Amino acid sequence: MTVTVQFLPDNLTTTAIPGESLLSVAARANVSIPTGCMVGNCNACEVEMNGEDVRSCITAIPDDVATITIHLFNDPSW
Ligand code: FES
Repeated sequence: MTVTVQFLPDNLTTTAIPGESLLSVAARANVSIPTGCMVGNCNACEVEMNGEDVRSCITAIPDDVATITIHLFNDPSW
């Protein structure tokens, strides 16, 4: 099973395999997500995934959905 992943606001779409790292999927779609600690502590990589705030560095593609919408926050302070 593959999951369709859409990145907003640029509307870039790719497919992913459940369990795949969200950062890897973003990189494959040429989407840049800012990172910092890479262990889930700093929130630099926070995005909204299907309406829920998640930290990209510790988030994998879930296996219970067919499509995912990722909304990147635009925080100029980062
Ligand atoms: S890079 Fe720090 S929480 Fe993800």
